[in-house]
Amino acid sequence: MSEKSEKDIPVNIYRPASPFTAKCVSNDVLVRPGAVGDTRHIKIDISGGSLRYLEGQSIGVVPPGEDKNGKPNKLRLYSIASTRLGDDLDGKTLSLSVKRLEYTNPAGELVKGVCSNFLTDLKPGDDVKLTGPVGKEMLLPDDPNATVIMIATGTGIAPFRAFLWRMFKEKHEDYKFNGLAWLFFGVPTDTTVLYKPDLEWMAYKNKRNFRYDVAISREQKNAQGEKMYIQNRMAEYADELWDLMQKPTTHTYMCGLKGMEDGIAEFMVKTAAKNGADWKEFEKQMKRDGRWHVETY
Ligand code: FAD
Ligand code: A2P
Repeated sequence: MSEKSEKDIPVNIYRPASPFTAKCVSNDVLVRPGAVGDTRHIKIDISGGSLRYLEGQSIGVVPPGEDKNGKPNKLRLYSIASTRLGDDLDGKTLSLSVKRLEYTNPAGELVKGVCSNFLTDLKPGDDVKLTGPVGKEMLLPDDPNATVIMIATGTGIAPFRAFLWRMFKEKHEDYKFNGLAWLFFGVPTDTTVLYKPDLEWMAYKNKRNFRYDVAISREQKNAQGEKMYIQNRMAEYADELWDLMQKPTTHTYMCGLKGMEDGIAEFMVKTAAKNGADWKEFEKQMKRDGRWHVETY
């Protein structure tokens, strides 16, 4: 975790028994024609209450309606994709990156995820019940000279959008990032690279401080002819990544598909062994030092 004192971290300002009723401001499609799935950037007006949050935290959304047992629907968590200032820099909004969940069950029926479909169907002006914020795992270190390695698949980009917007888009009196931010981003197709123009522009404008590597699983292959998963893209920079991780000021963050954890672990085991180290031990030490941050779902 960061050096922030516990009292500065807002948690559970609103609880499930009395959520805050916010309003959808906008709901924009984040993917391009031909994309796999439907992911939205949803901006929500949180003014009028006492909700506040930090980059890397999540918010609870309580979808309307009841579950199949007749009980009120339970909240789902979503990583906040905006900085504490919100996309309009006025502290009045928060934004989410939400993927619509749809799948076919064994009976051949189309099943729609309750909360993700509620969110991705929102229209400006619609009410959204929020709880939280929660989460201390993914906070950004205060150190403006830190090295921040970010590993994201799909909507796992959300907290890193907040990090990168704070580092490179906003201006602050008390925080001017001058370290190294390195984003690895795994998506199925080029049309599903979320926030693509922003990320590319940011990389172009901040060559000294921002590195950006994508892994497009269904369109690219590694040298061995395997699917380009994020861990295969990282493997191209294994020595450099390992060296960076030795520095006490390097923080590594992973967010997105739970499934990527094993692949990343396998890559780290190999990389550590090549450097005469035991990954399990090293990972444990990084966790103790608050430098290894994982939020997968
Ligand atoms: P539900 O109605 O809850 O249905 C989900 C259930 O459907 C699963 O539990 C599983 O049982 C079943 N299921 C799902 N896929 C299949 C399949 N292919 N085949 C069979 N069964 C299946 N999501 C985002 O979009 N963006 C985020 O930024 C984000 N951040 C998160 C942060 C945290 C800390 C956590 C814990 C989760 C996050 N999620 C995020 C996931 C989110 O909380 C929800 O789980 C997701 O939106 C699905 O919720 P739902 O209500 O639509 O689906
Ligand atoms: P694929 O779907 O080709 O198997 P999204 O959430 O938008 O679907 O993106 C998730 C990305 O993570 C996709 O590119 C997906 O690839 C990839 N992915 C799926 N499983 C793994 C895994 N075990 N390790 C790393 N990446 C994965």
